[in-house]
Amino acid sequence: MAKILVNGGAGYIGSHTIIELIEQGYEVVSIDNYVNSEPENYDRIKKITGNEIRHYDIDLCDFEKVLKVFKHEEGFDGIIHFAALKSVPESVKKPLQYFENNNQSLINTAKAIVNSGKGNLIFSSSCSVYGNLRPDQLPVSESTPTQMVESPYGYTKLMGENMLRFNALNKSFKTIALRYFNPVGAHSSGLLGELPSQGINNLIPVVTQTAAGIREELTVFGNDYNTRDGSCIRDYIHVSDIANAHVLALEYLLENRQKEYFDVYNLGSGDGVTVLEVLQTFARVNGILPSYKIGPRRAGDVEMVYSDSGKAFKNLGWKTKYDLDEMMRSAWSWQKRLLS
Ligand code: UD1
Repeated sequence: MAKILVNGGAGYIGSHTIIELIEQGYEVVSIDNYVNSEPENYDRIKKITGNEIRHYDIDLCDFEKVLKVFKHEEGFDGIIHFAALKSVPESVKKPLQYFENNNQSLINTAKAIVNSGKGNLIFSSSCSVYGNLRPDQLPVSESTPTQMVESPYGYTKLMGENMLRFNALNKSFKTIALRYFNPVGAHSSGLLGELPSQGINNLIPVVTQTAAGIREELTVFGNDYNTRDGSCIRDYIHVSDIANAHVLALEYLLENRQKEYFDVYNLGSGDGVTVLEVLQTFARVNGILPSYKIGPRRAGDVEMVYSDSGKAFKNLGWKTKYDLDEMMRSAWSWQKRLLS
């Protein structure tokens, strides 16, 4: 049985991916420092899968501790590196913290892989590496060159990709960078979903919290973009579809089907949806329109981005299962569960 290390395994995408890994028969070990997650997520995973997750509560920025885990576990067959700070607006306020945390934890992980002499790496990247695109570049595919990004968060992802791309030249291990668009929604069991322990900035948890009355009102950041209703366009993708893509990417590496030492894949649904359309869909599906106002643009936002995910469909055999209605439905069920 292949042994997989999940860095950031208690986090939103990490926890959903652990479930998929367990369901496919992998042995999973997790590292997390709970900077934006909570250890109770391991209990939720156990409830869903019946499996106890062996976990190390350490900061990946501490190389000695990372090395110790790799030594104790005698290395890993695969490593999935989710662990990162991920808020676009917070990164604009604290760029150095983002550069330090996101890059150092990745460098330490990569060094530990080299040191252990085995393993393949999957790196959580983001569509933010594409920066602001022209409409004729959409849907964006991996052949579109990356360019200057709009936020420090996006820059950490671009730096991460480039570090791994250069590292691949010495052929020490193989890497896939997965460029997520906007992962949302919750597990079909209703037992697991997004649970950031820090300030919530992402649209969907803000929407569900407003619908639940935890927030009075939400702000739509800008209605003067060059889009059909003036609000930003994003490509929302169900977190369980994203999780499933990790298992497929891992198999691709473990079965040595990838020739290159570094490659990238987009993970999006292919549909561009405006912020106002998200609110309308949420209202139609769940029968509640969260109260909102229009506010100024948010620093670091791009105008529009949505994915051509043909490469993941073709090479990895990835298929998305859930549509936007289901993303909104599951996100709301999860929020209601948190209230009960
Ligand atoms: C960015 C990345 C995405 C990454 C995510 C992690 C881009 C294009 N995408 O998502 O790949 O997974 O960070 O956090 O860089 N909004 C409001 N009101 C709110 C909150 C958000 O109007 O209260 C709007 C934003 O302006 C944006 C959209 O909703 O247009 C989505 O925002 P958010 O959920 O924060 O994700 P991104 O920043 O797009």
